[in-house]
Amino acid sequence: MTHPFLSIRDFGVRFPVRSESFRRGRYFYAVRHISLDVRKKETFCLVGESGSGKTTLVWAILGLHPFAEGEMAFCGRSIKRSNDPVHQALISNAQMVFQDPVAAVSPFLTLGQSIEEPLRARGVGKKERAAIAQRLAAETGLSHELLGRRPCEVSDGQNQRVCIARALSTKPAILFLDEPLTALDAIVQREVAELLYRMKKDYNATFFLVTHDLGFVKRCGTTVAVMYLGRIVERAAKETFFSNPCHPFSQALLSSVLKPGIWKGERIVLKGESPSPQNPPSGCVFHTRCPRRLPVCEKTAPEERLVGAEHAVCCHLF
Ligand SMILES: Nc1ncnc2c1ncn2[C@@H]1O[C@H](COP(=O)(O)OP(=O)(O)OP(=O)(O)O)[C@@H](O)[C@H]1O
Ligand code: SF4
Ligand SMILES: [Mg+2]
Repeated sequence: MTHPFLSIRDFGVRFPVRSESFRRGRYFYAVRHISLDVRKKETFCLVGESGSGKTTLVWAILGLHPFAEGEMAFCGRSIKRSNDPVHQALISNAQMVFQDPVAAVSPFLTLGQSIEEPLRARGVGKKERAAIAQRLAAETGLSHELLGRRPCEVSDGQNQRVCIARALSTKPAILFLDEPLTALDAIVQREVAELLYRMKKDYNATFFLVTHDLGFVKRCGTTVAVMYLGRIVERAAKETFFSNPCHPFSQALLSSVLKPGIWKGERIVLKGESPSPQNPPSGCVFHTRCPRRLPVCEKTAPEERLVGAEHAVCCHLF
C-alpha cells in the first residue's frame, strides 16, 4: 500500500485565551478535528473564510505552532508531537511562501542574497549558491541587474518572485503557499499565478496552497479542502468539488465568485458574522448562518461522511 505523502488525523491547535478577566490555563481551539491526506506531487488547496484557521493549520504542520491533539504522518512515518525527528524530516523537506512578500524578505539583504539564504544555511558553497540564484532568477523572471537591489527598491510582485525563487532553491519536496497572490494587484497577481503554474510543472513538487482565489484553484488544484471555523467541512477532488459541491458553506463560497464558470446557481448570501473560535456555536459550527439548517444541527455536531470516491462532507444533510 502506498502511503499519502502527508496525512493528518484529528489534528487540533489551541491558543491561550487572552482577555481582561484572563484566567491561567484557558485555551480555545483555532483548529480542531482536522483530518486530511496530501498525495505526492499534487496541488492540495485549502480554502475558507478569513479567520477559519488556514494559516494556523499550516504553521502547526511546519512546527511553528505546537499541535495539541491528533497526529501527522510524513511518508507513512508517524509524527506524534511537534519537532520529533520525523517532524524535523518533514520541515527540512518543506519551504514556504508567505502572503506579504515584503515582510518575508530581510530588508538588509539584496534580492540575490535572499534567494541564496536557504542554501547558505545548508552549507552550499558561495560559487554554487550564486549560480543557483542566477538560474532561479532567470526562471522566475528577475533580471540579473535586480539581484543587487534591496527589497525596498523593487515592486511587490518582484519581491514575491524572490520569495518563490528562494523557496525553490533547496528543491523542496513540499511547498506551502499561504495566499501568495493576495497582497498583489490584479495584473501582478496574474503574472505570479502564471509563474507558480509554470514552476509547479517544472519542479513537480507537492504544493499545499492556501488561497481565496477559487479561479486559481480551478485551474491548478488537484484536491480541495474547505475550512469553516477551524473545521474542514468538505474535501474532494477538484473536479468533484466544482461540479458537485455538497456542504452549504462550500456552495455559498462558490456562489460568491463573480468569475464565469465557477457557480451556475443563484447567489447564496450568508447572514451574520462568522462566530469567534473562542466561543464556537454548539452542534454544527455553521448552524448560526446555514440557510439549510435542520433542528438537529443546533445540538449535534455532524460527523464527516464519505458521499463519493474521496469526497467527504461534514453535514447532517448527508
Ligand atoms: N498566535 C495566535 N494567538 C492567538 N490566536 C491566534 C493566533 N494566531 C491565530 N489566532 C486566531 O486563530 C484563528 C485562526 O486564524 P488564522 O490566521 O489561522 O486564520 P486564516 O484562515 O489564515 O485567516 P486569513 O484568511 O485571514 O489569513 C483566528 O481567530 C485568529 O485570531
Ligand atoms: S449540519 Fe446542518 S447547519 Fe451544518 S451545514 Fe449541514 S445543514 Fe447546515
Ligand atoms: Mg491566513
